[in-house]
Amino acid sequence: MPADDYQAEVLISAERIQARIAELGREGAHRHLGRRLVCVGVLKGSFMFLADLVRAIPLPDVEVDFIGVSSYQGAESTGVVRITHDLARSIEGEDVLLVEDIVDTGLTVHYLLDNLATRHPRSLQVAALLHKPSRAKVQVPVDYTGFTIEDRFVVGYGLDHDGRLRNLPHVALLQLPA
Ligand code: IMP
Ligand code: MG
Repeated sequence: MPADDYQAEVLISAERIQARIAELGREGAHRHLGRRLVCVGVLKGSFMFLADLVRAIPLPDVEVDFIGVSSYQGAESTGVVRITHDLARSIEGEDVLLVEDIVDTGLTVHYLLDNLATRHPRSLQVAALLHKPSRAKVQVPVDYTGFTIEDRFVVGYGLDHDGRLRNLPHVALLQLPA
């Protein structure tokens, strides 16, 4: 797809994203006062949300780690989830916050929650910038949701279409040429 062969209409502005993350950060911190929090970003889509979220969490002891999964090609889920990059260290006994860009079918978070639970964290919660509940194939608990959106394909703020457009500072609706 040539670089100019798409239109991206702003759905959620950078300002709205930042305001919501500030709220989520304060909310999350209340539940973990006095304890370490290990934030696990799901590569690659969550990197921008994770970077802003950890700065909004007013706790002295926040660690960051990443887990990589491959589940998507183009705009449709393959339903196949595979770990492509694992955590750098054990999460046994830790308070873990799994940080995702978007919960769509729910298959990725469902798989990751099962996988991480086998490692015996003290607690395991999920933060997702976006949630498309109308697309759910499995129900997953999302403890912190940035925005609930309709069934539209979005890009920007970490979310990609075939690897591109992650660098937009806002979330946009992708309109591909007919
Ligand atoms: P799920 O397993 O169907 O919930 O999909 C989760 C992954 O699909 C997310 O981490 C995204 O990488 C990708 N995804 C789902 N919907 C969108 C979208 O609208 N735009 C970009 N990526 C998406
Ligand atoms: Mg993706």
